[in-house]
Amino acid sequence: MKKMEQLYEGKAKKVFKTDDENLYIVDYKDDATAFNGLKKGQIAGKGVVNNKMSNFLMQIMEKNGIPTHFVEEISDRETVVKRVEIVPLEVIIRNIAAGSFSKRFGVEEGKKLNCTTLEYCLKNDLGDPMINDYQIIAIGAATKEDLDTIADLTFKVNDVLKAYFESINIELVDFKIEFGKTPDGQIILADEISPDTCRLWDATTHEKLDKDRFRRDMGNVEEAYAEVFKRLGL
Ligand code: TMP
Repeated sequence: MKKMEQLYEGKAKKVFKTDDENLYIVDYKDDATAFNGLKKGQIAGKGVVNNKMSNFLMQIMEKNGIPTHFVEEISDRETVVKRVEIVPLEVIIRNIAAGSFSKRFGVEEGKKLNCTTLEYCLKNDLGDPMINDYQIIAIGAATKEDLDTIADLTFKVNDVLKAYFESINIELVDFKIEFGKTPDGQIILADEISPDTCRLWDATTHEKLDKDRFRRDMGNVEEAYAEVFKRLGL
């Protein structure tokens, strides 16, 4: 597998073409941003942790019947993934109130929600606004059929991920995932699953073990990522 020209550079990862037109290589950086790029920094070693953790969790998803982009980890920071076109949606599940949900609706952070909630944000240059199913279909960000698949898969991801984190004494508060479409039209889980994209609280102490430590200047950011990594047995 040959790494070819860079296709894209995002806030936390770079994506490269390869000599196989159906495969890309993602390269995880230590860069961290928050609040739509307003806050910038680095979390030492994050790229390695997120690469390995995301690959580990993607493989658990596969074992549970959720198709993903994962192909092969080729170095500490690099992974071969299937070529997809990203559906321009941030798909967010919440089990417990936190972050923008708490702020928007005035619900205390930490309150267990009466039902698991699903929400979408549109990935665009206008600050990734919240968007509903009708609006998504109306503007063509996804078709009704693709959105149904995305919602079904996302609840499945929550069930599997929540149970897995519970087994290592971590509460899965909320998370954001993204989906891609393969050239033959299949919707698969893409992007990453990591402490950048999940809120993870120690189930006993409720200590935050995720990117909120960076967002909120709480300190011990690297240590928190390392703790999750360790509990996953990585
Ligand atoms: P929020 O409470 O800020 O809306 O975040 C909900 C979840 O989504 C949280 O686990 C963090 C994650 N997230 C991302 O991964 N990327 C983003 O750009 C945002 C805003 C949130």
